[in-house]
Amino acid sequence: MKINAILQAVRNRVTIKLGLLLVSVFLLIIFLIGHLLYSLFLSFYLSHIKEELIQRAQSHANVLSDHFESLTINHVIRMEKNSNQMVVILDQQRRVIASSETVTPLHRQYLSRADMKKQEETAIEQDWDTKPFLVFESPIHQDGRIVGTVMMFNSTTPIRQAVDILRGMLVIAGIVAVVIVAGVSFIISRMIVRPLLTMKKATGNIALGNYVTKVDVQGGDEIAQLAASINHMSEQIRFYQKQRNEFLADIGHELRTPLTYLKGYSEILMQSHGSSEHVEYAKTIYEQSSRLQRLVQDLFDLARMEQGTFSFQMECLSLEESVIEALSLAEISMDEKGIYLEYTPPPSSLCIMGDRQRIGQVLLNILENARRYISAGSTVFVTIEREEEYASIKIRDTGPGIPEEDIPYITERLYRVEKSRSQSTGGSGLGLAISKEIIEKHNGRLIIQSKQGEGTEFCITLPLK
Ligand SMILES: Nc1ncnc2c1ncn2[C@@H]1O[C@H](COP(=O)(O)OP(=O)(O)OP(=O)(O)O)[C@@H](O)[C@H]1O
Ligand SMILES: [Mg+2]
Repeated sequence: MKINAILQAVRNRVTIKLGLLLVSVFLLIIFLIGHLLYSLFLSFYLSHIKEELIQRAQSHANVLSDHFESLTINHVIRMEKNSNQMVVILDQQRRVIASSETVTPLHRQYLSRADMKKQEETAIEQDWDTKPFLVFESPIHQDGRIVGTVMMFNSTTPIRQAVDILRGMLVIAGIVAVVIVAGVSFIISRMIVRPLLTMKKATGNIALGNYVTKVDVQGGDEIAQLAASINHMSEQIRFYQKQRNEFLADIGHELRTPLTYLKGYSEILMQSHGSSEHVEYAKTIYEQSSRLQRLVQDLFDLARMEQGTFSFQMECLSLEESVIEALSLAEISMDEKGIYLEYTPPPSSLCIMGDRQRIGQVLLNILENARRYISAGSTVFVTIEREEEYASIKIRDTGPGIPEEDIPYITERLYRVEKSRSQSTGGSGLGLAISKEIIEKHNGRLIIQSKQGEGTEFCITLPLK
């Protein structure tokens, strides 16, 4: 489980992925260079030792070929007495004539392998890793015949020691290089990824509707071009959104006066003594113009809230009182539809600074939605809780829920899940847009969670006084 979580974290972090890639490439290069250096040193060192051994065997054999007598033999032995090598001189029957050091059984196993027919110097043992000696021989000639051989022994222990030291040094150098490379790789990958992370944060903010977000553009490379495109995109969205809001506000403003006339005159017609059909028409005109007037008022309020010209009557208010007031207003219509209301009060009284009427409007909008969109027999649970410095009002229903793809948009103005815009299945799609704006103007948040088939929860958090 833990390993899976770590793998998931690695997969989701570009810094780690890029860092690991750089580290792996550097490690491969370090390994190849280390291996190459090791092989080069070993072959150079071994060939140097073997060369020296062959040369000494050869030069001793040459001297002895000219004077194969005890004086020369003693001279050769004396020459090798204090060297790192050992010389053994054999006669034709592989008997030891002389040696510079004591011949042990370990040496003897090689003496029997002396070749008395080969005319040139021969390698008898070249395995430096597992055998105790490197052994070479060179024949002694006299009158065209082989009369003996010079055998040179070189202990392999110092070779193995030198190789061990070299390996140790390479491992230490490798570890130091890995640490440095890992550090540098992560610094490089962070440098590359940092602007991407800034852009990710900025696009996240834009997606949340914060279109004033700007990304810092530095230089003119592809990453800077991407940042410039993001800035351009957010400016464009801001521009279109501003235009749309201004358009809706203007329409609202333009419609206010004709609507007042429509409503006023239809009201007079309703009260006049015309035919019942005319009165009925006047009633319809009155109802529809009232509906339109509400819509226009909502659009107008929204535009003013956005521009910051809407005035809130802030006062110290008890959340419990506001909720109970809204519940008692909604109770009758809920009862009519057969929807149950369940209220859980807070453990202690919670007060906020807010506009009583507007907070009531938010609560009624959400309760009205519940009444509209959930079926008879369902329950609406209302709870007030304290969460540190905030109070939260949760309104949860057991209705049909909202499709996941619609949740981010239902607080947009005029957005409805049911696209046919029929009056029987919903309103104008402004209720939640206004509610969100009101809550945000109170420095609070409106969080909507919903699961289709299970229900919806609206959570309003407001800072406590
Ligand atoms: N409790 C809920 N359960 C299911 N869907 C909901 C719920 N509340 C809101 N919705 C959906 O969210 C949409 C937007 O709600 P909103 O209150 O903004 O608009 P409306 O109710 O359609 O119109 P208005 O509130 O302006 O009369 C609704 O059209 C509805 O589809
Ligand atoms: Mg509504």
